[in-house]
Amino acid sequence: QSFFKPIQRTEPPSPTKRHTKISVVGTGNVGMAIAQTILTQGLADELALVDAKADKLQGEMLDLQHAAAFLPRTKIIASVEYDVTARSDLCIVTAGARQIPGESRLNLLQRNLALFSHIIPQLVHYSPHSILMIVSNPVDVLTYVAWKLSGFPSNRVIGSGTNLDSSRFRFLIADHLDVNAQDVQAYIVGEHGDSSVALWSSISVGGVPILSFLQMQQIAYEKETLEKIHRAVTESAYEVIRLKGYTSWAIGYSVASLARALLRDQRSIHPVSVLAKGFHGIEGGEVFLSLPAQLGRGGVLGVANVHLTDEEAQRLRHSAKTILEVQSQLGI
Ligand code: NAI
Ligand code: 2OP
Repeated sequence: QSFFKPIQRTEPPSPTKRHTKISVVGTGNVGMAIAQTILTQGLADELALVDAKADKLQGEMLDLQHAAAFLPRTKIIASVEYDVTARSDLCIVTAGARQIPGESRLNLLQRNLALFSHIIPQLVHYSPHSILMIVSNPVDVLTYVAWKLSGFPSNRVIGSGTNLDSSRFRFLIADHLDVNAQDVQAYIVGEHGDSSVALWSSISVGGVPILSFLQMQQIAYEKETLEKIHRAVTESAYEVIRLKGYTSWAIGYSVASLARALLRDQRSIHPVSVLAKGFHGIEGGEVFLSLPAQLGRGGVLGVANVHLTDEEAQRLRHSAKTILEVQSQLGI
């Protein structure tokens, strides 16, 4: 007996919207921030959560389900088993160890590598056509690991990369100039971490290149000021971790913006970790690092051909080398 009495149809039902499913593996601080941002933005019809801790996972699922009356309709399911992720369009991996205050992201590799050899094959088994979005750190190396373990084409394996760093950068520039961060177009590229590269030469505010904007407004600037802003970006996560123990809200919004671009086929450009060999003279091995990439339903649709100064290109190659050195210890 159905609650509703079916109506008499006079014409065939119109084609319905495609069912969209997102899975989030790891329901700690980061996974839950991503899950709740996805829910509030109504990005999925179904959200599957996976974690190794069964009780915590069940509690998080119920807590989110209890918000149903205030949110766009989304079916929320959870399990320690991966069959719950079956037929996902997007699988987001946030499981794993996080930094303690002062610890670098690269230092997490050995601990998180072991988890990935368990997690990635299961996601691939249940969702062979999905896009993989890696968030766990060190995100660039683990995106490479996920690509190798999955056997997916590289356009379907993406690291959240410097989408977050670029937002921090835009915030700091906006704060410095007293403008809206959404009017600041600025990219951090390279490693999501200590060797990231700020692309000062291509920053614009309201369509005006920043260096001439500063001159026009008669705001004095020195290279040292610009370096200080970039240093503040690389220090951001260390500072937040020292103060609250982890970072979560900004990465939640960052990944939700990427999920929207991918699943809604926005074809928008985001600095994310992609297979970067061959771009800007990056040689020496297959390496994932962030470059401004166009994202849509097919995953990475292309990489923007941004102009880099010689110094920026040299710093980017140095960042690639840093990641490759860590990768060479993996043996995969
Ligand atoms: P957390 O400790 O709060 O959560 C990690 C979760 O992973 C826990 O719930 C744990 O039970 C789960 N987990 C561990 N092994 C698992 C397995 N085999 N299968 C399923 N779940 C498993 O840590 P938090 O703060 O959520 O950070 C998670 C990761 O995200 C860290 O590696 C952190 O460095 C990274 N991160 C990356 C960012 C980025 O921009 N790429 C930003 C912030 C954090
Ligand atoms: C972040 O940048 C820790 O990678 C993490 O917030």
